[in-house]
Amino acid sequence: MRDVLAADATGVIRGRWDVPPLFRPPTPPRHFVGRDAELRAIRAGITVLTGAAGVGKTALALKWLRERGSGVQLYVDLAAHGIGRVLRAFGLNVAPDDESAVFRSLVARRQFTLLLDNASSAAQVRPLLPPSGTVLVTSRTRLGIGHVTDVGPLPDDGRLWPLLDLSYGELPERQARLYRLCAWQPGVFGVPEAASVAEEPACEVEDALDDLVEKSLLTEVGDDAFRFHDLVRAHARTKR
Ligand SMILES: Nc1ncnc2c1ncn2[C@@H]1O[C@H](COP(=O)(O)OP(=O)(O)OP(=O)(O)O)[C@@H](O)[C@H]1O
Ligand SMILES: [Mg+2]
Repeated sequence: MRDVLAADATGVIRGRWDVPPLFRPPTPPRHFVGRDAELRAIRAGITVLTGAAGVGKTALALKWLRERGSGVQLYVDLAAHGIGRVLRAFGLNVAPDDESAVFRSLVARRQFTLLLDNASSAAQVRPLLPPSGTVLVTSRTRLGIGHVTDVGPLPDDGRLWPLLDLSYGELPERQARLYRLCAWQPGVFGVPEAASVAEEPACEVEDALDDLVEKSLLTEVGDDAFRFHDLVRAHARTKR
């Protein structure tokens, strides 16, 4: 316990003060639309955004943080980073047994608003929850903790379309062509499938797919696995 407190004190007094770039929230999609009710429903405390893959949980959480969140914000993609990695980025080397205690006290003492993205289970999240403050969690499964906000498919109220047109109009031809062709892939696809429909080398296709993800036109749902948001796919299929 003394070690925890020592590391805790180090975290507060000597650990890095600014949030390391890897753990700052990325910007929400440029063409974010809708979700007015969900944005209003999120409050201080623990909120779990639950919904199917690619439905828009992360986008909603990032939008809320940007527009309604306060204080210093810490973003952890739990699918990509363990908590030890986060602590090391803050300059804290902590024994594995002490990681969750030190993480919780780091968050609480510095009053971070926390986004835990891509949680897979309640057991993964519980040890990371600070005693107070605001925590957003996204998960494809119901975790049975916090205040649950269900995130359903975006209604097609016509607001997204013009914004997609704008983004599409700015694409270089290779990306625009991939956007059109890949929209005919059913569900999740990888680089080999995209390379095959485009009849282009995989390495170039991979770069172009990454650019589409960067522009929020495509969703990366795993290691080199991609899928379109339903509305985006419908948009892409209208393009020739
Ligand atoms: N409200 C929105 N307006 C515009 N684009 C959106 C909106 N919500 C989601 N998107 C876009 O849809 C795609 C998927 O959204 P997002 O990554 O948030 O899904 P997710 O539910 O977090 O998926 P996963 O379960 O894979 O983490 C992204 O390209 C995102 O930019
Ligand atoms: Mg997500």
